[in-house]
Amino acid sequence: MPTSKPRWAACPKGEATAQPLPSAARARPGCSLEIVPYNRFLRSRLHGRLVSGRGPCRPVRFALAPGASPRFLAGMVQLPLEDNAGDVIGKAMRGADLGDTALGRRAGVEPEAVQAARKNLGDEATLRAIAGPLGLGAEALVAMARGAWYPRAVTFPDGFAMITTAFDDMTVNAYLVWDPATRRALAFDTGATAAPLLALLRERALRLEAVLLTHTHRDHIADLVSILREHPVPVWTSERETIAGARTFAEGHAIELGALRLRTLSTWGHTRGGATYVVDGLAHPLAIVGDSLFASSMGGGLESYAEAWRNNREKILRLPPSTVLACGHGPLTTVGEELAHNPFFAQ
Ligand SMILES: [Fe+2]
Repeated sequence: MPTSKPRWAACPKGEATAQPLPSAARARPGCSLEIVPYNRFLRSRLHGRLVSGRGPCRPVRFALAPGASPRFLAGMVQLPLEDNAGDVIGKAMRGADLGDTALGRRAGVEPEAVQAARKNLGDEATLRAIAGPLGLGAEALVAMARGAWYPRAVTFPDGFAMITTAFDDMTVNAYLVWDPATRRALAFDTGATAAPLLALLRERALRLEAVLLTHTHRDHIADLVSILREHPVPVWTSERETIAGARTFAEGHAIELGALRLRTLSTWGHTRGGATYVVDGLAHPLAIVGDSLFASSMGGGLESYAEAWRNNREKILRLPPSTVLACGHGPLTTVGEELAHNPFFAQ
């Protein structure tokens, strides 16, 4: 638990509540951000809530090391990794179609130990034993379970913005990319609410030209209507995963935006038509990957675990190591860091 004077107090319902953080820690326009204890049993975690001006409080998890103070990145609290080691194990088990007993037999551990690992309560010996049969990197998995890794912060001086909004008990990321010279802009997904994205367009005097979808899960297209009401622009999605009114593209589709060059990759597996947008021309090479890949994890292979894994490995992770990966949930990361630290890919 943080050693400084806590910012929270118990509210009458027994649920923790919090004082607003200093202005430097505020989230995006229209939202303030508060930090409260997440779970007194898991003493290394805090739990925050994003509060919109009108909407209900939305709880959001923030993982913090014991004794640490909340850290802020570009005015926002550091986003937690989307998944913990137990989540990674669960996704890999579903992908391999292995239950506790079958995996335990292969790994030489008791089913109860596998179950504990799935719940993120695995001991190190169990994690090392089950990593191999699941095709996971043992060192990366153990490091993740210890909370020993978090991607280095990356910033873009211009032309890129990450917009994180609260969706039920999680957060979802939308992005804006623009050509700094011409102010022509593209939106990638909508966020749970598009209000902060729309505010950013106004503040930066950007001209939105299209909305490009990474996939059509509800949390990624939740507020398309608000964007289109203010900016009646085309919506684009993969030809493998369409929605009413959208234009479609195939893999390898090229897009020009002033001095920026974009191309699409088909990174399906999480959904039938998951798309990645590779952007060249900004301060760093960039790939907007949706839920194909997360820092230290990947989206569940809802359509095909094998294809999701293969597309990540053979397309996204073959981009230059310095490529910034803008994920649908959790923090920004890079190809190089994921090859070294993501249990699904680090061997
Ligand atoms: Fe998704």
